[in-house]
Amino acid sequence: MTRIILSGCSGAMGRNVTQVAASRDNCSIVAGIDIRLPEAAKYPVFTSLAECTVEADVIVDFSAPAALDGLLAYAEKKNIPLVLCATGYSDEQLAAIREASNRIAIFKTGNLSLGINLLIRLAEKAASVLGEDFDIEIVEKHHNQKVDAPSGTALMIADAISDTLEERPHYVYDRHSRRMKRDKDEIGIHAIRGGTITGQHEVIFAGHNEVVTITHTAESKGVFATGAVNAAIFMAGKPAGMYDMNDLLSAVVD
Ligand SMILES: NC(=O)c1ccc[n+]([C@@H]2O[C@H](COP(=O)([O-])OP(=O)(O)OC[C@H]3O[C@@H](n4cnc5c(N)ncnc54)[C@H](O)[C@@H]3O)[C@@H](O)[C@H]2O)c1
Repeated sequence: MTRIILSGCSGAMGRNVTQVAASRDNCSIVAGIDIRLPEAAKYPVFTSLAECTVEADVIVDFSAPAALDGLLAYAEKKNIPLVLCATGYSDEQLAAIREASNRIAIFKTGNLSLGINLLIRLAEKAASVLGEDFDIEIVEKHHNQKVDAPSGTALMIADAISDTLEERPHYVYDRHSRRMKRDKDEIGIHAIRGGTITGQHEVIFAGHNEVVTITHTAESKGVFATGAVNAAIFMAGKPAGMYDMNDLLSAVVD
């Protein structure tokens, strides 16, 4: 039985993770952390990790980048793995995460859905076949409450494509401020925000008279919650290091 501390438990994803974990018999949420206390919870909730007195095997975070320092300090003090699901970390924070992974096990991914990770593999394949002759653009759409843009997933897709191309492309986020033609060695990344869209990512390979488009649509946040619970169970007891969806997928496939 994997005992989970859920950081960001009062938020939309926190509530989804609570539901998914309750439907499993191999894990249990033993405590929640949130600066906003929920109206009711089936586990004790603390406003910070420093106040948490409950022992656990792993921490899952769906709060915000601002919580990172406290999460790293607590995970190190207790020597337990950390599953980081929040997005929008700064370069300094990403460096701090990598540095801490020398001492504790850290799972980090911009997207916990199986379908998105398949889309990434398909986009890598498409880029290796079409990349030199086709212009590549990524369009992502999310609900109007999302604060970071572009999405962590759009950047994951761009990075994966970039790694397969011989000429490393640069990313262009804002055409409005540039009056010039599109450069061959660029990936355009565009963010759309509106309504309740859970998450859509579209990778467009535009060539001469033909266009290949690969699209993934997340229809419910449950997809990410399932991925987070699977990651938590996978990470319990893991040695120090950085882990991501590829490690989880390999473990499922093997
Ligand atoms: N990796 C993925 O697949 C994936 C999927 C969905 C969402 N996300 C990310 O997860 C995060 C949360 O998403 P959400 O839709 O649940 O947001 P949300 O705003 O509904 O919930 C965030 C919760 O965290 C709490 N919180 C904020 N700062 C905190 C802090 N410093 N300490 C403790 N609690 C704090 C808030 O009170 C809130 O209850 C976002 O960064 C989002 O981009 C990642």
